[in-house]
Amino acid sequence: MSEKKTYYITTPIYYPSDNLHIGHSYCSTAADTMARFKRQTGYDVRFLTGTDEHGQKIERKAAQAGVTPKAYVDRIVAGIKDLWKQMDISYDDFIRTTDERHVKAVQRVVRQLYEQGDIYKSEYEGWYCTPCESFWTELQLKDGCCPDCGRPVERTREESYFFRMSKYQDWLIDYIKTHPDFIQPPSRTAEMLSNFLIPGLQDLCVSRTSLKWGIPVDFDPKHTVYVWVDALTNYISALGYGSEDDSLYQKYWPADVHLVGKEIVRFHTIIWPIMLHALGLPLPKQVFGHGWLVIDGAKMSKSVGNIVDPVRLCERYSSDAVRYFLMREMPFGADGEFTNEALIRRINSDLANDLGNLVSRSVAMIEKYFGGVVPEPGAYEPLDEALIEQAETLYQRVEKNMDALQFSGALTEIWKVIGECNRYIDQTAPWVLAKDEGKRERLGTVLYVLLECTRIVGVLLAPTMPRTPERIFSQIGVTDDALKTWESVQRFGGAKPGSHVHKGEALFPRIDVEKELEAIAQEKAAGAKPDLPAPQDEEKTVFTQRDLIEFGDFEKLQLVVAKVLRCEKVPKADKLLMSTLKVGDTERVVVSGIAKFYTPEEMMGKKVVLLANLAPRKIRGVESHGMLLCAANADESQLSLLTVDRDMEDGCEIS
Ligand code: ME8
Ligand code: MG
Repeated sequence: MSEKKTYYITTPIYYPSDNLHIGHSYCSTAADTMARFKRQTGYDVRFLTGTDEHGQKIERKAAQAGVTPKAYVDRIVAGIKDLWKQMDISYDDFIRTTDERHVKAVQRVVRQLYEQGDIYKSEYEGWYCTPCESFWTELQLKDGCCPDCGRPVERTREESYFFRMSKYQDWLIDYIKTHPDFIQPPSRTAEMLSNFLIPGLQDLCVSRTSLKWGIPVDFDPKHTVYVWVDALTNYISALGYGSEDDSLYQKYWPADVHLVGKEIVRFHTIIWPIMLHALGLPLPKQVFGHGWLVIDGAKMSKSVGNIVDPVRLCERYSSDAVRYFLMREMPFGADGEFTNEALIRRINSDLANDLGNLVSRSVAMIEKYFGGVVPEPGAYEPLDEALIEQAETLYQRVEKNMDALQFSGALTEIWKVIGECNRYIDQTAPWVLAKDEGKRERLGTVLYVLLECTRIVGVLLAPTMPRTPERIFSQIGVTDDALKTWESVQRFGGAKPGSHVHKGEALFPRIDVEKELEAIAQEKAAGAKPDLPAPQDEEKTVFTQRDLIEFGDFEKLQLVVAKVLRCEKVPKADKLLMSTLKVGDTERVVVSGIAKFYTPEEMMGKKVVLLANLAPRKIRGVESHGMLLCAANADESQLSLLTVDRDMEDGCEIS
């Protein structure tokens, strides 16, 4: 028996975040749909996903949360796995960059590159964007900020190891030019060549000494491996590359495709191929850079605060409906706008109407006219034959689109056949045939054709919508597993006359668009989960130690407990509150810029911390005698008043 052909597909490994959004689900859904399609068509599939757990970002977030980085990521990874379960993401392996198997592989890769002279020690001076974990040269910065995300960069200078990327530049340019399928879609090839390769590659800084949360360079452990070298290696560490048992590596590498978002194509088509080539390993056959889900033109992201929660969407509409929308709405490679309205309209028109009606009408008519028993077809007429020809060649058009990762194209082909079926019902008018006893055989033929087409559609939907086919099969009475396979849709006529149909509930109930949008708006207003602006947890709170002071300097500050007696808004100043405070047996007025965070009512009665001996200052016409202490993050999106932990009397000194 010949061995099955293998197919290895990967998603990026995600940064652990509590706010995975529908944009992340997009890539996983595409990879899962492809993996299921390849399994269906007989491949031995390996589908890898995972999490990218090292780096400054995580280190800082964990410190903010007051837990170890590992404890911090463990909790989040569990949540990510739950999401993938809810969305039926059928990965074969989940790699975490904190896995021992991964750490070992990365160390081995770095050591080999060092031993063969591709990595050398020098000093790095330049700019670093922490949210993107990217190094930039002065020239690459845009208005002094990260050219990718526009956020501030930090100056870094440290002893580092460098990877001789420049040495491989010409080889890579040549490789990309002679392998036009390597980077897809083709527009991204042009972008990589003109933006990065033709201007010339610099050697890449691949270690840091200032970062603790990472993989130590094993021959110089005060260095940690640069997160992208760490992260990219996941695609082979997960296969046991370099370990005692590398049988998976031998079997599945090179990958057939890495699916990645367009902003990280650069890492996957420059650093990664050069690493592999330097190690003497084959390159992945393809890197596909897909587009972004955007909201009002902006990439959905935690920092923009426009995220849509996939858990909530699946709860509301079912994971199959969400998956269908993601795969259908935009061509893979292009950006697409996400709106609740577009999603609901797709559910109504494509799922409830086109597909749902086809199934329910076919089943209802077989129940009504044949007592629920699938009729034997008679001779086919040209009208039947045209539809049959469409249905039994559908798998070819689906395969062609899927092999080009054109998920939307494949679904469009399926929906053309669904549309043809619905038209066929109108053309053949079974309810008219039913009135004429002489047309009984004709009626049976028509209903058989419809039922068989529905079966074929059901089978071909399975990769995108893993739950729906079984619901269709149970209604149309298909129980034999042999009638649910890829082979079974290549020839018309599989459905068995004599089997029983069962009318079930509507596959996808129609949604009242207006009511639904109203309900979503209400849920949003009530602070429930969907597309609520997430806490801005990508804005790093950076603590920088200032110059030391003497105790005497501190003693100059008079900090006291104060009680808020009254509070009101400062007229014509929407940020300011004016509080009347009781401090011992005195009263005073203080103006604070906290109106966005506290209402006057909330302030009433609070015991706050007052800097009492600050020279008075007029703010918007009100004289302020002192200052209330607050904690705020860097961009002042979050703010909290300092209060005292126990009920202390106002006037008490703080020291
Ligand atoms: O980049 N629409 O992780 P990540 C579509 N750890 N895709 C989106 C999206 C959106 N609105 N937002 C994010 C990383 N994505 C690295 C990868 S791989 C060795 C290391 C996609 O969690 C994004 O394009 O920031 C990327 O492909 C993936 O989610 C993971 O993003
Ligand atoms: Mg990202």
